Amino acid sequence: MKFQIQKGTFDILPYGANEPWQLSHLWQQVEEIIRQTVVEYGYKEIRTPIYETTELFNRSAGETSDIVTKEMFSFIDKGGRPISLRPEGTASVMRSFVENRLANLGSVHKFFYIGPMFRYERPQGGRYRQHHQFGIEALGVTAPEQDVEVIDLLVQVYKRLGIKNLKVNLNSVGDLVSRSNFRTALLDYLRPHFPHLSSESQARFEKNPLRILDSKDPKDKELIEKAPSILNYLTSEAVHHFQEVCRLLNEIGIPYQINDKIVRGLDYYNKTVFEVTAEDLGAQNTLGAGGRYDGLISSFEGPDLPGVGFATGLERVLQVMISQGISLPKKGGTQIYFIPLGDEARTQCFSLATACRHAHIASEIELSTKKIQTALQNASRSGAVYCAIVGSEEMAKKVLQLKNLETRNSQEVPFNQLIATLKTCDV
Ligand code: HAM
Repeated sequence: MKFQIQKGTFDILPYGANEPWQLSHLWQQVEEIIRQTVVEYGYKEIRTPIYETTELFNRSAGETSDIVTKEMFSFIDKGGRPISLRPEGTASVMRSFVENRLANLGSVHKFFYIGPMFRYERPQGGRYRQHHQFGIEALGVTAPEQDVEVIDLLVQVYKRLGIKNLKVNLNSVGDLVSRSNFRTALLDYLRPHFPHLSSESQARFEKNPLRILDSKDPKDKELIEKAPSILNYLTSEAVHHFQEVCRLLNEIGIPYQINDKIVRGLDYYNKTVFEVTAEDLGAQNTLGAGGRYDGLISSFEGPDLPGVGFATGLERVLQVMISQGISLPKKGGTQIYFIPLGDEARTQCFSLATACRHAHIASEIELSTKKIQTALQNASRSGAVYCAIVGSEEMAKKVLQLKNLETRNSQEVPFNQLIATLKTCDV
């Protein structure tokens, strides 16, 4: 029986990938830039399991959110416990933070994570059932500087990756009082139009009318255009926070636009919410998104600490980099590929390759074929910068032919000078 990969998932391969963004060395490079950047902003890595009790996500994402109602990969384990694969990272980080009592170890906690998330969605470009997120969560600070640090970090990562044409869309969904006032106004506005709303929006009318603003239905969208703006219903404290976020973004030179229709697909947000889009990404053009979620930790019976964070999908990041023509290294990690011609040369090359590895020089040796053409193909596919050919003539002279596979330049290098040559010279 021939097995096939599951719908909405993909392999990340060292070569031979279906799509250029599915090459593993590109993922490594993106992850490396992310890791370098987060350190400079003081974030530390947290790794949580990929499954949790289903209730954790029901409670945090919201019972009426698309994620909970339609998209969870849920099952009952052998012990009869309801389990779900994590659809996002924030809930798991909060669970871990509370359970491990990390609040006792300081007043500010800044975490980042990189890993797979699972949503049972209709797969299409930029939308998968298993996707990967880089996310951060900053806990303990109510000051608007924290919101802006988070937005700046997201934009900074994109910039370091070379992504252009970014747009930061910003909104405030206020605090509980703001939202309750807005809810009344929104219901008053929508009530006469109720029969014309999509069935999905009708279902949300009583339960969670704010979510209607997120509807993708064309007729709903027309109505939403003229709906009241949440920004007119913010409490003075929420207004002040929003104004400060805007002022600080101006101060550090991050362009943004206010979009009062952004409500986000998760229920835990309050005050600041944002989405970053990029041109050249097609229909699923949201690269990353996040916001503030004061109150979420205490709803998990943790301390009453505020929080703000974001997550960005790595598939979309790589796709936009490729469609914007951002140059990424095509090569893997191998530096030198040894091609022995004959048994004696093979032992010599094996000991040279081993010596290189011990000296931190990534090396490979051709052991699968005696055909030089095939060996050269293998060498170039390995991503090696150099190949070293050793035949009987070279054995007699105790040298190898060191060839730069890109420039095609060659030079003769004595065996005992190979490591010094590779470490210093540019053949
Ligand atoms: P989210 O907007 O649901 O937020 O997802 C964040 C990002 O993950 C999206 O902008 C998108 O790039 C990517 N993404 C989501 N679903 C898929 C999918 N099916 N296929 C490909 N990419 C996808 C959250 O998950 C929040 N936890 C973010 C956050 C952290 N807010 C505060 N802290």
